[in-house]
Amino acid sequence: MSTKVKTQSQDDVFKKLVAHCKEYGFIYPSSEVYDGLSAVYDYGPYGVLLKNNLKAYWWKSMVQLHENIVGLDCAIFMHPKTWKASGHVDAFNDPLVDNKDSKKRYRADAMIEDHLKKIEDKIKKEVEKAAKRFGASFDEAQFRATNPRVVEYQNQHDTIDKRLGEAMRTSNMVELKAIIEDLEIADETGSRNWTDVRQFNLMFHTQLGNIAGEEGKLYLRPETAQGIFVNFLNVQKSTRQKIPFGIAQIGKAFRNEIVARQFIFRMREFEQMEMQFFIRPGTQQEWFAKWKQARMNWHLALGAPQEKLRFKDHDHLAHYADAAVDIQYEFPFGFKELEGIHSRTDFDLGAHAKLSGKKLSYFDPELNESYTPFVVETSVGCDRMFLATLSRAFVEETVPDAQGEDSTRIVLKINPAIAPIKCAVLPLLKNKEELTKAALDIFNHLKFSVDCQYDDKDAIGRRYRRQDAIGTPFCITVDFETLENQTVTIRDRDTLKQERIHIKDIERIVLEKTDMRLLFAKI
Ligand code: GAP
Repeated sequence: MSTKVKTQSQDDVFKKLVAHCKEYGFIYPSSEVYDGLSAVYDYGPYGVLLKNNLKAYWWKSMVQLHENIVGLDCAIFMHPKTWKASGHVDAFNDPLVDNKDSKKRYRADAMIEDHLKKIEDKIKKEVEKAAKRFGASFDEAQFRATNPRVVEYQNQHDTIDKRLGEAMRTSNMVELKAIIEDLEIADETGSRNWTDVRQFNLMFHTQLGNIAGEEGKLYLRPETAQGIFVNFLNVQKSTRQKIPFGIAQIGKAFRNEIVARQFIFRMREFEQMEMQFFIRPGTQQEWFAKWKQARMNWHLALGAPQEKLRFKDHDHLAHYADAAVDIQYEFPFGFKELEGIHSRTDFDLGAHAKLSGKKLSYFDPELNESYTPFVVETSVGCDRMFLATLSRAFVEETVPDAQGEDSTRIVLKINPAIAPIKCAVLPLLKNKEELTKAALDIFNHLKFSVDCQYDDKDAIGRRYRRQDAIGTPFCITVDFETLENQTVTIRDRDTLKQERIHIKDIERIVLEKTDMRLLFAKI
């Protein structure tokens, strides 16, 4: 079979992906009948299946495959002192700036980063133009180092980047405003009339019903990690784990993001998959390196190509970390953070012990001493995993139709182990009861072991396209030969090849080809 992938701009692909997610029941804007709620989304019928499969892949590889990692599911609300101890009340801020004319709000650092991105795009354009001009003899490194225009752009870029990094590191709001003014950054209405830059706390809060005032002020957790920290000793005692050991949790987190854009990339309500690994003080470098590689392998095993993933060290360390790295993914809008790996020292356990007055130390029987464990954390956004998975899977291509003519299809080439529907059962014709009955019998047997779907609407070609569009890896077609010899065809979503197999082999074949163990074998 010959397939041709359509070439189009990443912006166009992204717009199509967002529209596809809505049309095919993956993601809807929240409360859409009221025109939606900014940066809040609902997962549709196929979205929730895919998201659950991603969570299962993470949970099984973290908890089931590690005898020294256990799970937890904490409440979203926590005692308000939790967030004082963790530093979130005082330091979980983003720099906010208002435009006095348009009254619109912006994140000061994000505006400067956008400016940097424009310079990067100019460099990229120059490089692409030169690559075309020089052909095979093009030496990109030499061009970047010597072309006067590129060198000038690069210098501008590096100077701004350095100023931004320093201002963020030292929380220098005056300098951030000075950078915005020096670069003459305007908002989307063209106005450069900015307020001073000030810190904006990202935590949402609400009030307990029975306590008025500050005492009853509750926060919606901005990360799931704190539930793990405050339960550290409970879990250690009830599971009798010895250090090193980990606690894993999947759950909702909330952040009042100033700039919320790029679909589900930056949301105000989202889900995290976090694991805190408790270790002996002094061993953090070794464990940080181990988890950094283990997490990269996890992404690669799911099928992300190496060139779409990269490590990016943090220039600006969070208040709790002594080392931090992001795993970035190349989304349609560029390389962005997908997962964070942080060496959190004993900051959190120490701070909770201090503020609560409770002991949160561990007695190490091998060393015969007590200490506050250090922590290496892995934290991946479930929604960002979803977006990375779908943007990689989304392909528009030309393939031959039943008559051998070129036709365009949109297909989600999702790894079969996490595809929302593993297999569709389709009678060749709708109006032949013998066919629909045989197909329903197969479906009613398969549904106990895999997520499968029965469909008899429209012509068979359109049904195949519908299954392609939701990423179903296998379609089972029941035709007249089925009635004679108990065989069906099984169609492969990616190769479009159809094979005849016996009905009794369907379940085994589908289970084998969609088994999550195929992913675990690669980690
Ligand atoms: N406990 C550490 C922590 O929360 P983080 O880097 O702020 O670290 C971890 O967040 C991950 O959570 C990110 O790598 C990202 O995947 C996801 N995440 C953070 N903010 C998000 C948002 N507003 N929308 C969607 N995902 C988000």
